[in-house]
Amino acid sequence: MSELIVRKSGPLFGTVLIGGSKNAVLPILCACLLTQERCEIRQVPPFADVLALLGILRALGADVEYDEKKQMVHIQARRMKMGGGGEELAGRLRASFLVLGPILARKGRAQVPLPGGCPIGTRPVDLHLKGLTALGARIRVDHGMAKGRCRILRGTEVYLDLPSVGATENLLMAATLAQGVTVIENAAAEPEIVDLAAFLKKMGAKIQGAGTPKITITGVDSLHGARHSVMSDRVETGTFLAAVAITGGDVVLKNTPNDHLAAILAKLREAGAVIEEGVGSLHIKATGEILPFDVKTMPYPGFPTDLQAVFMALAAVAKGTSVITETLFENRFLQAAQLNRMGAGIKTDGRVAVVEGVRHLTGTAVTATDLRAGAALVVAALAAEGETQISHISHIDRGYDHLEEKLQGLGAEIFRQEEPAREAMAAAH
Ligand code: UD1
Repeated sequence: MSELIVRKSGPLFGTVLIGGSKNAVLPILCACLLTQERCEIRQVPPFADVLALLGILRALGADVEYDEKKQMVHIQARRMKMGGGGEELAGRLRASFLVLGPILARKGRAQVPLPGGCPIGTRPVDLHLKGLTALGARIRVDHGMAKGRCRILRGTEVYLDLPSVGATENLLMAATLAQGVTVIENAAAEPEIVDLAAFLKKMGAKIQGAGTPKITITGVDSLHGARHSVMSDRVETGTFLAAVAITGGDVVLKNTPNDHLAAILAKLREAGAVIEEGVGSLHIKATGEILPFDVKTMPYPGFPTDLQAVFMALAAVAKGTSVITETLFENRFLQAAQLNRMGAGIKTDGRVAVVEGVRHLTGTAVTATDLRAGAALVVAALAAEGETQISHISHIDRGYDHLEEKLQGLGAEIFRQEEPAREAMAAAH
């Protein structure tokens, strides 16, 4: 197991290139199962989640070629195998469940393991199952598998009790091949869903309203192969902006999804950073002095839950008290205890965290409990006195591509090393 060693770093300086979006690429790769023809997807970073999902697609019988250097994937699912394994891989990421809609739509039967993912809440899949059932599938959960069958899927109106991103994506994909018209009400409106819909339209799907709470899909008989370049990652963008803000740096971020950053940029400006928006680029200048701010996570266009932890790291060194409210997940403050180990003054009560800014954080051994909590620790460590050792960084690798190399390029002191022998020795005693 590797760990990240991060030392207090001076102001970050230079240019960094933002990559493809994890949350957009995963459903898009699943959508390739909707056609027998070859699809080409670009801007696909080698996130651990992407590699796991490609393994699942192979286990399902798809031909998958991934050129990691070019960040390009070719997928052709001529035939599909049932029960092709992949359970162990599915346990690693929640997005593995997004193959259910496409397989049911194309084959009329599917067996998909219940998903894994970050330990940030109970994260049921009831809305996925309810929606697919409304489209005519019979689904039962048996021995950890969702087993579905349908003669045909029939378009209908589906109301989602809450705007679940994954349920919207599963239904959207299934409905492209259903008979008739499907309307998803109270759909999630995240930009990653718009990107998925853009790819599905290139495959021949008929979709209106993606990016709004009402999506209308008119089913077609079949979809064809298509090419698509995945949108840039909002969360990676926000993470780098926070890293620059906390170190008082001056950095240009390129390939940024500027149309989808309003909530994130508003909070950074409130925290005192100066940000100029270019065409697909951002220039952030910061003094390192963070003003307190309040954050409440909301479905898009609200502040993204995926950046809540990273912004808690910023608030930890703000000149005053910030209040952070998490409305989407019930257990998404796992970073708070780790930040407190670094000297932060964070109190959590249910879904609310009160963050009393401290003058300095200090480096120590901390654990990346989940993907975004891990990113928060990296951001905090850049400003913490001395050295921070972050373990369990496989969580970070799930959704950040070459994080330490990109930060090193901006002057950060961060490197990866095998977990030292002292831990193995301690474990042996
Ligand atoms: C996606 C993102 C994740 C992000 C989240 C919210 C991907 C791969 N992951 O996850 O990074 O944090 O959106 O923006 O895109 N829920 C139910 N029943 C369901 C489905 C969801 O109760 O059937 C609940 C969840 O427990 C959670 C809330 O709805 O409390 C939001 O979940 P959802 O929007 O579905 O998130 P994901 O698609 O899992």
